Amino acid sequence: MPATLIKGKDIREEILTEIRADVERIRDKTGAVPGLVTILVGEDPASVSYVTGKIKTAQSLGFKEVQENRPETISEEELLALVEQYNRDETIHGILVQLPLPKQIDEKKVINAINPDKDVDGFHPVNVGRLLIGGGGVKFPPCTPAGIVEMLRRAEVPTAGAEVVVVGRSNIVGKPVAVMLLQKAEGANATVTVAHTRTRDLAAHCRRADILIVAAGVPGLVKPEWIKPGSCVIDVGVNRVGTKISKKTGKPVAVLKGDVDFEKAAEIAGWITPVPGGVGPMTITMLMQNTLNSLKFMLGME
Ligand code: GUN
Repeated sequence: MPATLIKGKDIREEILTEIRADVERIRDKTGAVPGLVTILVGEDPASVSYVTGKIKTAQSLGFKEVQENRPETISEEELLALVEQYNRDETIHGILVQLPLPKQIDEKKVINAINPDKDVDGFHPVNVGRLLIGGGGVKFPPCTPAGIVEMLRRAEVPTAGAEVVVVGRSNIVGKPVAVMLLQKAEGANATVTVAHTRTRDLAAHCRRADILIVAAGVPGLVKPEWIKPGSCVIDVGVNRVGTKISKKTGKPVAVLKGDVDFEKAAEIAGWITPVPGGVGPMTITMLMQNTLNSLKFMLGME
């Protein structure tokens, strides 16, 4: 496998060590710790698994962590009232409402109800606007795109002038990562193309990419022959393709597959992220970073 593996798992440990030290320093100086509330509606297995990861990580860092689990049947009004409760709670610096939400709830309304200065997901229109404008006004870069940019930086993948092709145009990954990499800034300055389901000749776009970021949610979408030799492949796909029995716990666990055929792609690319253990661990890490930063903003430390 000639490609260098960019392991989110390892980068996560480096960043969490930095966060832990900062939390201790701020706690000793001010008595305050970052506070995060996770709001989970229903019992979708993927959402439960993501939220559990967020809770465990926050606790391991010495954050205040509040869990609010609500049934699938919750009304929009009740959910909005819950968000408002934490908008007003001064010990909470980050509010995370796990998406997707059930059909009876207007997701946009809920996101809009979160105080933008506690929106550690970076989904509120105010934060999306700040991201688009770029520069020092960016408060909460969305977690998965921020994780990708951080991985590129730490792996020293050159971005200035690079051809970046993003496959996928979601509000959570595709659109924001494209915006972040085209900014006039260190670790960015790329030429960015966003491809999607209506793109003609996806293969031709992918073949041009110095950095190929795939967030389509289609297992094995990107074929090895679409990859430019020596390029960097970031696979954001986390597709549950079956279950297996965990060797560690003896319990059934999901079998995860990326959007890229990893084994063959790793023979061609210069850098590649594995699934699992690639981009996934970075999302939670950047959420922790945003929550810590939120406390620092509130204390006037940043
Ligand atoms: N659902 C899938 N990814 C995310 C995320 O990053 N944040 C939230 N709130 N929900 C998600």
